[in-house]
Amino acid sequence: MELKQQIEQWAEEVRQSEFHSPEEVEQFRIVWMGRKGRIKDLMAAFKEAPNEEKRDLGKLINEFKQLVEGRVAQGVQLAESAADEQKDAEFDWTRPEGGMPVGAHHPLSVVRREIIGILERMGFVVSEGPEIEDDWHVFSGLNFPPEHPARDMQDTFFVNRSPDMLLRTHTSSVQVREMERRDPPMRIIMPGRVFRNEAISARAHCMFHQIEGLYIDRGVSFADLKQTLLRFAQEFFGAETKIRLRPSYFPFTEPSAEVDVYWGLKTEVDKRITKGTGWLEILGCGMVDPAVLEASGIDSREYSGFAFGMGLERITMLKYQIGDLRAFFESDMRFLGQFQGQY
Ligand code: DAH
Repeated sequence: MELKQQIEQWAEEVRQSEFHSPEEVEQFRIVWMGRKGRIKDLMAAFKEAPNEEKRDLGKLINEFKQLVEGRVAQGVQLAESAADEQKDAEFDWTRPEGGMPVGAHHPLSVVRREIIGILERMGFVVSEGPEIEDDWHVFSGLNFPPEHPARDMQDTFFVNRSPDMLLRTHTSSVQVREMERRDPPMRIIMPGRVFRNEAISARAHCMFHQIEGLYIDRGVSFADLKQTLLRFAQEFFGAETKIRLRPSYFPFTEPSAEVDVYWGLKTEVDKRITKGTGWLEILGCGMVDPAVLEASGIDSREYSGFAFGMGLERITMLKYQIGDLRAFFESDMRFLGQFQGQY
């Protein structure tokens, strides 16, 4: 038979082919496209053909090849969807489902939510400020002197110099924004991310979280501060919790204090984390320095206030006995999965 006719006949055969299973498709592929398949035969015949016919023949063979390839691709698809239909038909749709995988909240989110909840019940409202800040809101407006070491590039990530733009090193910057924006009385909590130029270790990170508190009104006293923090500590750590305030220094508060909770010394671990004292520092606080009030346009003869700031990671590590700060930022599911069911 002439080659041309042979091709036409085969093309018809290919068009008429039917498949009912992946095996049949594979069989078809081998017959036509296999190492000893008919396309190979065609190529051999093509070589023998007289030169003047080669142009037309080549074109025909090419078209035929494409036809076969297309048919195989179609067949694979058909066989796959047939297999799917078969699976669907066998599937028992009345079977009870196997339960969905349950995610977990990040421990920092759990603790942030709990802390905010406690303070909201005491009348604080949540506010947030930008992570990229200017020098005024992070330092100058909070009474940091120009030569203060916190302004050093060793401690702070600068985005720009003159004018200074930087990643805020504490959430106290939001205090300044709020004091500029609102008139007293105000009772605000300000959660957020902060950044410091620190080497990453089990105890330090270049990015962490704080929660800031600010209360300004007529006649706010240090006793109000102590009572608020005691109440907070007892809600968070348990009704029997004791706190103590140690004198400290912050540029924006006067007087300033650091607050410890009594952790106890029942176990060896307790002794290690409290360095044998039983007390653990949880936050810094103080009465807002009148200079800070004035800088934000609040009359310090009429109003006074207190502020406090705590590190979310530190408190979360205490609550869940987590030994390494880096665990919070590594997205290790073995760690995160342990917080399933915590809100
Ligand atoms: N901003 C301080 C820090 O990052 C923490 C702090 C101390 C916040 C005293 C306050 C405060 O509001 O009154 O170390």
